[in-house]
Parts: sequence; C-alpha cells; structure tokens
Amino acid sequence: MSGTSNNTRLHQWVNDWAEILQPDSVYWCDGSADEYERLCQTLVDGGTFTKLDEAKRPNSYWAHSDPGDVARVEDRTFICSANPADAGPNNNWRDPAEMRVEMTTLFTGAMKGRTMYVVPFSMGPLGSPIAHIGVQLSDSPYVAANMRIMTRMGQGALDALGNSDWVPCVHSVGAPLAPGDIDSSWPCNPDNKYIVHFPETRDIWSFGSGYGGNALLGKKCFALRIASVMARDAGWLAEHMLILKLTNPAGEAKYIAAAFPSACGKTNLAMLVPTIPGWKAETIGDDICWMKYGADGRLYAINPEAGFFGVAPGTGYDTNANAMETLWGNSIFTNTALTSDGDVWWEGMSDTSPARATDWRGQTWTPESTTPAAHPNARFTAPAAQCPSIAPEWEDPAGVPISAILFGGRRRTTVPLVAQAFDWEHGVFLGSIMASETTAAAAGAVGQLRFDPMAMLPFCGYNMGDYFAHWLKVGASTDASNLPKIFFVNWFRRDEDGRFLWPGYGENSRVLKWVFERIDGSVDAVQTPIGYLPTAGGLDLNGLDIAPDDLNQLLSVDSQGWTAAIPQIRGHFAQFGAALPAQLGTALDTLEAGLASA
Ligand code: OXD
Ligand code: MN
Repeated sequence: MSGTSNNTRLHQWVNDWAEILQPDSVYWCDGSADEYERLCQTLVDGGTFTKLDEAKRPNSYWAHSDPGDVARVEDRTFICSANPADAGPNNNWRDPAEMRVEMTTLFTGAMKGRTMYVVPFSMGPLGSPIAHIGVQLSDSPYVAANMRIMTRMGQGALDALGNSDWVPCVHSVGAPLAPGDIDSSWPCNPDNKYIVHFPETRDIWSFGSGYGGNALLGKKCFALRIASVMARDAGWLAEHMLILKLTNPAGEAKYIAAAFPSACGKTNLAMLVPTIPGWKAETIGDDICWMKYGADGRLYAINPEAGFFGVAPGTGYDTNANAMETLWGNSIFTNTALTSDGDVWWEGMSDTSPARATDWRGQTWTPESTTPAAHPNARFTAPAAQCPSIAPEWEDPAGVPISAILFGGRRRTTVPLVAQAFDWEHGVFLGSIMASETTAAAAGAVGQLRFDPMAMLPFCGYNMGDYFAHWLKVGASTDASNLPKIFFVNWFRRDEDGRFLWPGYGENSRVLKWVFERIDGSVDAVQTPIGYLPTAGGLDLNGLDIAPDDLNQLLSVDSQGWTAAIPQIRGHFAQFGAALPAQLGTALDTLEAGLASA
C-alpha cells in the first residue's frame, strides 16, 4: 500500500468492493513520479504501452486500443435516477435497483488476476472551494496513469478529502484473468459496456471499456454528468466548456467560457494564437468549466482538470501550435500512429506523412494505405501545465470571473458566424436550440445534425428541461449586470461545394475581439430576430482576405433557413413536455414572429 488515509469510511468502501471484485491485490495510488514510472513500466511489460524515443519525446508512450473500444458509447451510458422523468428524454434511463443487481453480477470476480488501483483525485485545484474529490477503483493501470495527468491524483487528494465524502467511482475493464491466461494488450469487454450514473447517491459504475470518457471517470462521468446534478442542487453550473483569457492591446483582460460539442475545436480555441496585432489569448481549460457565484455576484470558473485529453487528428503547428508544444514529453498517445523512429504521427500533424508507420490497429501503414494511420478519435493525454499558453492563474482556487459565454455548433448552413443574445434568458434559449453535426468522439454515425443544447446532450445527468430551468434560475439569482453576456458562434459554415466560408483557428480572434468589445459596449450591433449581429465594418477584418459574398453569408440572417428550422425546434422542445420552461416556448414564438415580419 502506498497512499494513506485515515478516512475509515473510505477504507470500508474499498474493502467492500475488493470483496466483490476479487482482485489479486489492491494498490493505493500516491500520485508520485516514481509511481507513475512504475505504472508505465507495468504497461510496457504488458504490451499496452510502447515507450517513445526518449530523445524525441521524453517520458512518453504510445498505446493502441481494441478496435471495439475507441470512443464514448452514448447508447451504453445510463442515468439511473429513482424517477425516470428525472433522467429526461436526453438520457437512457434504467431502474437503479435493477441496475445495481445487474452490474453487481458483472462486477463479481471481474478483477480476478488483476490489481485493483485505488485512485483518489481532485477535480479542481487542491483545496479550492469550487473543487470536489472523487475516488476511482480501477483494474486498469492505463487508467491510473492517465488519471495522474488529467487530475490532481494521489496523496494530495486524500489529504484534501480528510474525513469528508467523495464521489465513488468503480471501474473494471470487465476482463478477469484465470490462472495461466495471457492478458490482451488492451483488455476490455467490447460487447458488454456499461457507463452508469446514480444521480441520487452520486456514484458512478463503469464496466467493459478502457477508453477515454468511458473509463477516466473524473472527466465526463463525474465532472459533467454527476457534477451537473450537484450543480443543479446547489445553484452552480458544471458545463462542457473551455475557458480562455483574452487580453486587449491596452492590457485589459476578460475571461470567456465556450461550449462546443466534442471534437469541434474547443482545444484549438482554448489555445488560439490571435492573428490581430496586440491581442493575446491564454488558456485556463479546454473541456470542462465549473462556475460558482463569488461574493461579488459574478460567476467564477475553474477548470476541474489538470490535463488535456485532446483529439490528435487535425492538430498540427498550423492549426494549434500551443498544443503541439504542450506534447513535447510526459504525454500518452492513444490510437495515433507510431513511426518507425519511435515517435507518433497522425493525419494533420504535418504536411508530409511518414514513409512507413504502425497504424492505430498495430498494422503496417504507408501513404498508399487506404485507411487512416490514426483513428479519427485518437487522443493525446498531456499535462496542462506544459501548455505554453496556459494562463498564470489557471490554478487559482478562487477561479476567474467570466464575462462571456459562447455557444457553438458545427453547422454547414443557416447559423451565422456570430450573434449576441439580447439577454441571459434569450442566451439560454439560443443554447437550448443549439444543433451540431456528430463527430467521431462518440461511437456511431458521423456528420448527422442533432440538437445538442449547450453541447451537453451526452453529458447532462438529468432532464434537460430541468437543466434549462436551472440555467434560467442561475441567471435570475444575481443582478443582470453581473451576468456574462451570451453569444452564439459558428466557425463551420460552408458553401454548396463544401468549402468553409470562414478560415477559423487564429482568425477566430476577430470574433473574440467583437465579443470583448460588445461586453465593453464599445462597438455597435444590428438588432435582428435571432440576436445582435455585427454591423458592416463591426468585425475587424484588417489583413484578412475574404470574399465579400462569403462575408455576407456569414454575417446575415438566413430567414428561410431559420424559418424552416422552427418546426424541428418545436419538436425538440416538445419532448421535454411540462419540464420545458415557458420562457423558452415564448422565445421561440417571438423568433418565429420576428422572422415572419423581417
Ligand atoms: C471529450 C469528449 O473527450 O467530449 O472531451 O468526447
Ligand atoms: Mn469534451
């Protein structure tokens, strides 16, 4: 045993589970560098990790998963609230008592032949009043190693926990070993996965998967699904948002949170390098944002994570130089390609591909291959502290005051580059009707348009009708002047031939500048039925070569497109029945009337 705790209830809980799971041994993680090295060596010995060339990428490893375990599994994710209505139409509901019985059967003996790691972790800076502690039991050393990067893991979390309560997380890859069995390099149970949340008792049970959000339970399961329930009950917000700090040429800084669905560029926006002179962007977080009210009535945000679990394909020096610099070492790469000289590669990392590599399936790959070298949901796990653009205050326990919230989807049509909500209530309406094309971050079809309110569809641990009501309540509980301004953005607009109309990446700083100036009230806007849009000349386009027609499409209201979407929005709202706040129905009527008279 390594990490130590006097919390007798924690010991009891660990012992009770050890009886059910029947691991060969139990190991308490202390979070030390020595321990990390030992975990990685265990993974190298077991064939899960390949150590990368020390001179090229120090202290870094490559792993490739089972082909049946490559992404979050939304259809196997369950919210087991006592009352099915509390899970809402946005979740798969199962009776909690029945689920406990079903899963206890699966968990019984599930860790035979394996070590059970006890992984204490803090979501948020140790000791922050906004942070919360979890403890994950897992039979995956890969999970323990990733959790050390993604969270404040180990003795510090145990010390911060003391004798209080934690969010209990139980995880097994669901692949017990009989004596003499040879282990697979990526043990999992691909056809029998369960990602289960019990909102009333705040616990998480996960079985069968070793990948990402299915297995690193601090991230989606705790920091979003369970935390959203905790936030509902205690008047705060747990959101799928990046947090960035934007500083203007006069040295004034504002903090902006932005919600985008998975694999829609949150990491890129969080690490953006502005193309407009004199402006500076710094990173606080790239995926999750917890916001609580400060004594001054403003919302203060922390990034509950300590690392980035970013989508590798498409990340390169031209798209996200700060991410590339973050990955210099101390990182884990999963389902990227491995080059013959002991480094990693993925599509979009560089213009030239390696002449030969091992692809994410472990097979030989050459540029002539017809399949990609990296899986589209290949990921890097890297310490946030290594990011060159990390803001000095990213670990401030008090959090940072949020001045603007952006909602953005991946939309080829209809939605303009940027629009500002009239007020908080209208912003909640715009967030509630957000739709986006699906990506490879979740198993299933890619490119299908679905409503993904506030980018929380896969992550809201309760009925989204109640979630919208909670947003309205949060907004009503402070003076309107304290509230962040809300904006809707869309970097992904295309023409009929599929060409992107907006260059994106660093050029998004032009939109952020407009947001900054709208907060300050220093730039005018045009009032339209969907919100305030930039005036002609309102957006700083100096030095940008963009066709006037493209700009016109990006910055105008597509009345036809919006009008055509109204029946779909009505259908989307109807599924929430009585849980839908009346204000949102009214906002939709107002939008429809506004479009008709425009
Ligand atoms: C993620 C996701 O891993 O949203 O952040 O899928
Ligand atoms: Mn995410």
